[in-house]
Amino acid sequence: MDPNRVCVFDTTLRDGEQSPGCSMNTPEKLRLARQLVELGVDVLEAGFPIASDDDHDAVRAVAREFGWVSIAALARCNRLDIERAASALEPAKRPRIHIFIATSDIHLKYKLRRSREEALEETIRCVEQARRYVDDVEFSAEDATRSDMDYLYQVLEAAVAGGCSTINVPDTVGYSYPDEYGRFVAAVCERLRGRAIVSVHCHNDLGLAVSNTLAAIEAGARQVELTINGIGERAGNAALEEVVMALKVRQDRLPYTTGIRTELLYPTSQLLTRTIGVGVQPNKAIVGKNAFAHEAGIHQDGMLKNRLCYEIMTPQTVGIPETLMVLGKHSGRHALRARYEQLGYQVEKQELDEIYHRFTQLADKKKNILDDDLMELLEHGADESVAAFQLEAIEVAVDGASRAAVRLLRQGKPAAGQAEAEDPITACCAAVGVATGHPIAVQSYAVHLDESTRLNSADITVCFGNQVYAGQAEGPDAINAATNACLKAVNKYVRNRWGPARRPAGSQGAQARSATGD
Ligand code: KIV
Ligand code: ZN
Repeated sequence: MDPNRVCVFDTTLRDGEQSPGCSMNTPEKLRLARQLVELGVDVLEAGFPIASDDDHDAVRAVAREFGWVSIAALARCNRLDIERAASALEPAKRPRIHIFIATSDIHLKYKLRRSREEALEETIRCVEQARRYVDDVEFSAEDATRSDMDYLYQVLEAAVAGGCSTINVPDTVGYSYPDEYGRFVAAVCERLRGRAIVSVHCHNDLGLAVSNTLAAIEAGARQVELTINGIGERAGNAALEEVVMALKVRQDRLPYTTGIRTELLYPTSQLLTRTIGVGVQPNKAIVGKNAFAHEAGIHQDGMLKNRLCYEIMTPQTVGIPETLMVLGKHSGRHALRARYEQLGYQVEKQELDEIYHRFTQLADKKKNILDDDLMELLEHGADESVAAFQLEAIEVAVDGASRAAVRLLRQGKPAAGQAEAEDPITACCAAVGVATGHPIAVQSYAVHLDESTRLNSADITVCFGNQVYAGQAEGPDAINAATNACLKAVNKYVRNRWGPARRPAGSQGAQARSATGD
């Protein structure tokens, strides 16, 4: 075994799942487990079987399905917990029982109400019990970093003597400082002298979980316990994607390897977000929405000249399809021109200057500039009032079918329409068709909630007879966003009746329109 190979122990389904709002049922755990296995984790901690029957069954289901992966189940140092963990792991081909007991005086005195001697005896007894079920037993000394060192060594020695092959020394309360934790881990490695793999498990209470984990690797730890998106108790655990990418990007300082397929990091993060409904902050390293987004004009200009100016890894390395040039008030002309080119439009210098001026005015008013906004700037200027119809109000009643009533304004004059359809968005679009006098058939739509702004953004494609138009818009809820997107499409259609719209310069363009005028 390569001495610099670091084993990734994923505890997203156990410690991660313990955090508020992050619980998962068996099908959800199975789906994530499949992704984690694809990702290349070495050990998958699937749950804490004594916690509930559901947790027991979920661990069992994961153990049954992923025979070639080491599956761990957590147990406190007591007979029942270990029996339950062993039962859940029965179908596993590579089962690991992970037992833990606290070793700090604070935990012993207030939580466990045990003496040091009692906890030591329980450790010896429980390691022996666990070893009767499986060959692979991991022992964790909970709150190791706040434990008396001599006592900690006594407990760890006993666990190793009993047959534990992995010894975990968690920073349970996230109190350690990297250099201090590094020295602590080095001392534990020195003491165990290769008789067991030293593992680390860092919580993020001071935002140091990743730094502590990296310091521990440099000090000799060869197993790291991590979670996707850093979820976990309180402030969470060390984020898998951050540790893995730090190792990959900083090989000069950290010449260690893992078995992780980094291009699956972002898809895995996304799957977790969709599963638990808890997203990551936009500026989260590696997988945050802005991790590969550039808005400042100087940065965009630098990126367009050479991406090395501002990117230390490509988005593709972590599975993000492309760098995002966010067009906002900090963007410059270069980025604006580049985006038009991506959309298939060549904009000459003089025209660009003029559009850029209107673009900055719009960016002052609007946080997210959509491609549709750029097209409006290109064709008609930023003034929203040139849009023929504006949304005033929507009412939707769902009772089997969906009934929608919309009120619009057209140059100050009201227009209203009602319609019924299978779903609320289609009903609203049909009502828009009635109000505007241009019957609409919805071809497709997609609505996406932006976690950071809490705004929904909708993309819609609608037909007016045989003409197809697309619209994009944002709104406080899905129906509002989609109805506004539909109105954008209507307004383009209406405008094109008075004159042909500008076309992409000899390219397919990115617009879903086939505007020929009617
Ligand atoms: O944080 C911790 O100490 C734990 C142990 C059970 C490993 O999660
Ligand atoms: Zn933990």
